[in-house]
Parts: sequence; structure tokens; C-alpha cells
Amino acid sequence: MTVPGDKSVTHRAIILTSLAEGESRLSSYCRGEDCLNTMRAFQALGIQIEEQPDVLRVQGKGMWGLREADAPIDCGNSGTGTRLLAGLLAGQDFFTILTGDESIRRRPMGRVVKPLREMGAVIAGRKGGELAPLAITGTRLHGIEYSSPVASAQIKSALLFAGLFAEGTMRFREPRLSRDHTERMFQSFGIPLRQEAGALVLEGRPSSGWAGRAIVIPGDFSAAAFFLVGASIIPGSDVTIQNVGINPTRTGLIDVLTAMGANIEVLNRRDQAGEPVADLEVRFSALKGVDVPPERAPSMIDEYLVLAVAAAFAEGTTVMRGLKELRVKESDRLEATAAMLRVSGVAVEIENDDLIVHGKGRAPGGGLVATHMDHRIAMSALAMGLATDQPVTVDDAAFIATSFPGFADLMRGLGADYA
Ligand code: S3P
Repeated sequence: MTVPGDKSVTHRAIILTSLAEGESRLSSYCRGEDCLNTMRAFQALGIQIEEQPDVLRVQGKGMWGLREADAPIDCGNSGTGTRLLAGLLAGQDFFTILTGDESIRRRPMGRVVKPLREMGAVIAGRKGGELAPLAITGTRLHGIEYSSPVASAQIKSALLFAGLFAEGTMRFREPRLSRDHTERMFQSFGIPLRQEAGALVLEGRPSSGWAGRAIVIPGDFSAAAFFLVGASIIPGSDVTIQNVGINPTRTGLIDVLTAMGANIEVLNRRDQAGEPVADLEVRFSALKGVDVPPERAPSMIDEYLVLAVAAAFAEGTTVMRGLKELRVKESDRLEATAAMLRVSGVAVEIENDDLIVHGKGRAPGGGLVATHMDHRIAMSALAMGLATDQPVTVDDAAFIATSFPGFADLMRGLGADYA
């Protein structure tokens, strides 16, 4: 089987090819609503993008080719879209309003607005700029030195996109390495970004632009995660997922599942447009509980929900530490994951920012899971339902389309009984 193209890489590819000179073709891109909203944003900013089922053809107009949108830009459910665009648009010479759905309008934007204001950005928003909608009056920015308090690729990328349009040098540090797709894509386009004494250093306003080209987007590891766990907990499973991105800043789940006793093989390692890719073969295996230290969090931040499902089917206790960031995702994922397990008859506790799951090798199921407009809660619950004694029901499956249209059909193709 294959999974959709990587959501993070697709967002970045749409942005950088819109700013490239000439045509680019993005194949195997993510057709989730989040990425389509970013595509629509660039169309509204004057970029011609032709949407075909397997290829996006982007007619880039160069670094300074964007023009003012004539209506507010709706990023839907996407934190990545909203925050990366906030950084990029802060340094243009026009005005933009960025907004999104109810979930997006609850999520913290101050984490990008504050450093962008230090760069000179003029951004207004609800609660002093903490919440979207954000009104961005594009202006001349200057590079700053910024140490982010959180390891967040969205903060890093927002500031790198702002830094590209800023005068002078941008220096960025983060407490732990978050996913590095932006850095890799800058490098593959020849945008001069370098590492210096633990900081990322970018000279703003590069004298020459970059040319459009073909990019093949790797399969999304975070989408593959539901199948890695699903196959691990169902006796007799043997599933191979082809062309999955295995960027080490994303694959913490493989290490943790392997430590739990999972049987995952990484086959045919290769490189695709600056990103490592492989086929993943996963077979059923008895799992045991493990301790997951906080340092793991950045490399599997979106996978804790489905890891908690694996933990429920393991024998023994799994402790997942340092999950504060989960509270500010599409939903409060710490609470929502605990609630998902609780209604399924699994013993679970939250202690400060740690999630503790008492695995019994099986889970009763039978509950109705509240998804809180969160695609990953819905898919994790449906992965759990593959192996529970009683069916699992989700209150709303619609948000799955934000990242993974076709999820239910792919699962059905492997034997899932989804009503
Ligand atoms: C993303 C970064 C992560 C992740 C999100 C996608 C990205 O968020 O949770 O799904 O594409 O940069 P943070 O950077 O806020 O941790």
C-alpha cells in the first residue's frame, strides 16, 4: 500500500514553488484540505496553480511575485498553513487577513506573532495578536537573533520565511531539533541557509532567485503511523507501506514501537528531493509497555495519539513524558487521547504533562469517541477499533479529510470493517 504525500512537505513545496521562477510540478502531493487551503491561498495571492489528482502545476512568479488577495485567506484547520503564511506575508508590501476554522481560532498565534513583531512586523489579531484572525500589514522586516522557547517547526519555518524577505541576517535556535523539511527544501532550491554554532543562519533578500522544478513528495510518515500501529496490534498482519518519508526528525514512533517489541523493517532506503524515503514492512507482534522520555517529543509529536493506542494493546504500563505541546494542537490532544482510551475501557492517567497508559494486551472498546475537530483523534480511534472487543464509534469522521482523504477506504482494503 501507499499513503498520501507528506502534509508538511506539501505545504512547504507549494510555498517555495510559488516563489520560484517558472513552472514546478509537485507529484504525489497531499490532497488533504489543509494543503488545498494553502494552495488556494497562493491562488488568491496571484499564483496560477493547476490542480490535477496526482500533480500540482505551480507557475511561480519569483520571490517578489505575490500580490494582495482581495478577501481574507482561510487556512481552514491548518496551524502549519496559518503560521507559515503569517511569516511569509509579514514581509510583503501588501495587506492580508489570515483566518481559519473554530479550532484554528483557538490556537496560540503569539508564538509566531511575537518574534515576527521583533523583526518589525505589523500584525494585529484577537487578544493582542494571540489569536486568529490575524491582520498583517506587510512591511520591511529586519533579521533578528531568536531562541525559540519550544521545539516547533512551525515557529522555525514562519521565521525562516519571514527572514527570506527581511534585511540582514536571521539567526534561529530551538531547544531540540524539530522537523527540518524547511531547511532541506531551502537547501535543495539553493537558498543560502547555513548552520553556525548551533544556529540556523539565513541572509535575507538573496540576490538571485531559484528556478521551478519537479518535486516528488514522499509518503507521509504520520499517515503511515496508523497502519504501523494497526498492523502491530492485529494478529496475522503483514503490511508493507511503500515510499514513506523517513526523515529522522519524524520517525521517533519507529524507535518507540521497536522498543515495545514491534516488528518493523525499513527496506529500500533511498533519497527523494532531499528527503530520505523507504518502504516499511510491519508484522503483528506482542507489545510491552515502555517509558518514552520527553526528548522524543519533537520527532513524534503527531504520533502520541496512535502510540497511546499501541500502549493500550501492550502488556504493562507505558509512560509518555513531556507532552505539553499536545495541549495546543488541533485539539487538546493530551485530554482527548486520555478520553478516547477511557471511553474504550482502558486505564489511563494524566500526571502534569505525562500520559500514562496501563496496557492489558486488549481493549474492550464500545465507546463513542469525541474527536474535537481533530483528524488524528478520529484516525487513532478508528485504528484502535480494528482490534477492540466491541466496535469503536467516532462522533465526526469529516475532519479526517484535513490530512488523509481515503483513510477509511485504505483501511477497508486491508480488511477493516468500518460502517
Ligand atoms: C508541523 C509541525 C508540527 C506538527 C504539525 C505540522 C509542520 O507542529 O504538529 O502537524 O509542518 O511544521 P509544531 O511545529 O507546532 O510542533
